[in-house]
Amino acid sequence: MKGCGVVLFPMPFQGHISPMLQLASILHGKGFSISIIHTRFNSPNTANYPHFRFYPIPDGLSENDVVSSDPIRIVTFINSLNSNCQTPFRDCLTELISTEDPVACLVTDVLWYSTQAVADDLKLPRVVLRTSNVSSFLVIATIPSLFQKGYLPLQDSEAENEVPELPQFRFKDVSMFKDPGRFLEFIDTVVQGTKASSGIIYNSCEDLEQEYLTKTSSYFPNPVFLIGPFHKYFPASSSSLLPQDKTCISWLDKQQPKSVIYVSFGSVAAIKETEFLEVAWGLANSKQPFLWVVRPGLVQGSKWLELLPNGFLEMVGERGHIVKWAPQQEVLLHPSTAAFWTHCGWNSTLESLCEGVPMICQPCFGDQKTDARFISHVWRVGIHLESNIERGEIEKAIRRLMVEPEGQEMRDRIDLLKDKMNLCLKPGGTSYKSLDNLVSHILSLYSSKT
Ligand code: UDX
Repeated sequence: MKGCGVVLFPMPFQGHISPMLQLASILHGKGFSISIIHTRFNSPNTANYPHFRFYPIPDGLSENDVVSSDPIRIVTFINSLNSNCQTPFRDCLTELISTEDPVACLVTDVLWYSTQAVADDLKLPRVVLRTSNVSSFLVIATIPSLFQKGYLPLQDSEAENEVPELPQFRFKDVSMFKDPGRFLEFIDTVVQGTKASSGIIYNSCEDLEQEYLTKTSSYFPNPVFLIGPFHKYFPASSSSLLPQDKTCISWLDKQQPKSVIYVSFGSVAAIKETEFLEVAWGLANSKQPFLWVVRPGLVQGSKWLELLPNGFLEMVGERGHIVKWAPQQEVLLHPSTAAFWTHCGWNSTLESLCEGVPMICQPCFGDQKTDARFISHVWRVGIHLESNIERGEIEKAIRRLMVEPEGQEMRDRIDLLKDKMNLCLKPGGTSYKSLDNLVSHILSLYSSKT
């Protein structure tokens, strides 16, 4: 394997960059040399990876561009990235394969659909990384046929009913976006790009979603590798794009074991001012200690905490700690952390499952909705807040999870899942075997080229 290289190309969003860099480290650990092509927008911190080679490419974005929380705008943004970067990516890859170690394959995010044509032209196999799970990808791939059958757009009368093709999910879970009809062309492009690839890697493990793995092969006949959870290959590490405020760890050190609710809605989701106030009052009224990540931009137009009512911080005092961005993996590992109120992004979900922290689910869009359904109804390790964000409902959910016997039952179930997830990476475990298969697959792609 010595001298055999893999080129990786992450999509420049926090929830996508981290798993791609983790995958790069996993492959590096298996002996592959690693080259990362990346956009200048949300560029990774290259100093943290002295053993990788980094190649920035122009992306046509300006300093002032930000990732919106509106799904339509996110898709427009991804489409622009795909068209702006295709030529710079082609030029960079052409140069790289002529000068660096022999390259076995390219690994790109599934969302970089425009790279399949480049890979085909350069006769370089492209393997895709789906940074989330199998079940949500299957749901996405199924959306066009749900339109053809007349199940979508969502009818209010059908919202609570189970989707015949996708047991466990209701129509309202698979209607991932407010207006899913506007995403059909994008979905088709991503699905076709994925089908044309030489394999799909998921940051998930077979033990979590065996049933969906079997179903997915009818949509994606490609070789499939579930080698996650990626972040558990290393000690708590960070590929954070924002500085992490470590004061929360010393604050957690002062709290009782399993007493704190941790609240974070990830790097993209946004809430309205009225919802922000309901979250604040719900936390205050629950009387439980809380650690709250208020990311600048969480509430559109607000700088940070200026929307909190006068006297709120004094009233809560030492019982609450608010930061702009936390070292999340360390927080979830901390013995004082009892529960996680999350937007159910896949990285947050996996990180919480792996540390045995039950969840309150507040999904916003996309895979967050299907993740929330798995957490609350399949694994039964969390409470799904389905109504509008309202202080009374929040207080009730926090108390159910932190104080009432129901919370202990969820804790018992998530402890079993945590053990399963940790075992899957050990010799003989499903992800361990799947990683061996992935390494063999990459080597076979290499030999078939030479
Ligand atoms: C996005 C999409 O919204 C989500 O649906 C998809 O599954 C992944 O991409 P994002 O909002 O970034 O997700 O959430 P998530 O996937 O949970 O990733 C957030 C990452 O940021 C996690 O790895 C988490 O540990 C980290 N984080 C979060 C911090 O380091 N500090 C924080 O304060 C909050």
